[in-house]
Amino acid sequence: MRLLVLGGTEFVGRALAEDGVARGWDVTVFNRGTRPAPEGAEVALGDRLAPEGGLAALAEGEWDIVADTWIGAPRAVRDTARLLEPRVGRYVYVSSRSVYAPPPVAGMNEDSPTVDASPDADSVDYPADKRGGELAALREFGDRALFARAGIILGPHENIGRLPWWLRRMERGGPVLAPGPRDLPMQWIDARDLAAWCLDAAEHGLGGAHDTVSVSGHTTMEGFLEACRAAVDSDAELVWADPRTVLAAGVDPFTELPMWFPPGEVHDMLYRSDTGRARAAGLRCRPVTETVADTLAWLRGLPAEADPLGIPHPAGSGVRRPGVPAEKEEAVLRVVRGGE
Ligand SMILES: NC(=O)c1ccc[n+]([C@@H]2O[C@H](COP(=O)([O-])OP(=O)(O)OC[C@H]3O[C@@H](n4cnc5c(N)ncnc54)[C@H](OP(=O)(O)O)[C@@H]3O)[C@@H](O)[C@H]2O)c1
Repeated sequence: MRLLVLGGTEFVGRALAEDGVARGWDVTVFNRGTRPAPEGAEVALGDRLAPEGGLAALAEGEWDIVADTWIGAPRAVRDTARLLEPRVGRYVYVSSRSVYAPPPVAGMNEDSPTVDASPDADSVDYPADKRGGELAALREFGDRALFARAGIILGPHENIGRLPWWLRRMERGGPVLAPGPRDLPMQWIDARDLAAWCLDAAEHGLGGAHDTVSVSGHTTMEGFLEACRAAVDSDAELVWADPRTVLAAGVDPFTELPMWFPPGEVHDMLYRSDTGRARAAGLRCRPVTETVADTLAWLRGLPAEADPLGIPHPAGSGVRRPGVPAEKEEAVLRVVRGGE
């Protein structure tokens, strides 16, 4: 099999390329060359946003599968899909569950309405960009286009810093603000499981949209934080706070305490979705302890200057770097402790 990964050197694209290499496939990654490519992958250089000639390195060649992780202007997906369609079997677009139109509700799935978007647009916002990317791939590839609508993605090489933040916080030790309720169901996917599913599904000729994330309740807030605490060797102690106390202190859900959404609309949308279609199509998700242990091992092997908590976000992702300021966390802990 010949696999072309558009991108391929950060997180999900890297997992796709590494998985392809591990399968013994011929793998090429296409990007601007700002980071090293995964071992065993060929490199083709170019800039998808260049006004002219940016895709010259893709002018020739045939591939069974193209996997595209593009974030930003849908017209970049349009241009690669158009160029490659006559020479490629299947176009896998790593999309997002952010394509679903508001209001956020529990049980959303591939049949839920999506936001308005254009495949020819410049960058608008994250949901419209991802949906526009899907439409661009669909227009060129039809039922040979596969959309992996991921939920939150974790694992080694994570370039947002959600799990890395919790691991660093546990390493710092002491009392750690643990936002409740403990049994809050969570849903995410390890980038390596996402990559494996994309390549298997494309190899077997699957097309269309699939919500690629674990089942709701794959773990809970307690399961997640205990896995993080247990993985690091520190004196970290989880101090559980009810959601009202955390919110009353002005803590921003999710960005300041990554992965946490109090029960309500956004939690319903993110952590109570219906992923039956992807599971029926073979999606398997590894246990939280494995994702945590492997991410910690990766984090500890990084040189200081490459710490994912210090690098800028992928362009256009619209996500703020996660983490709660220490003084804010201490203020909530004082309230919780005062109430004990
Ligand atoms: N993180 C989450 O929780 C989450 C949730 C749902 C969906 N997703 C989706 O998951 C995917 C994550 O992607 P990733 O960042 O991990 O992918 P990646 O393919 O590992 O990294 C991004 C690649 O894009 C290349 N690139 C950037 N600008 C370029 C340009 N102008 N021309 C050519 N190449 C360019 C980068 O290399 P150079 O900079 O060297 O060019 C890099 O190789 C995205 O599609 C995102 O929407 C993420």
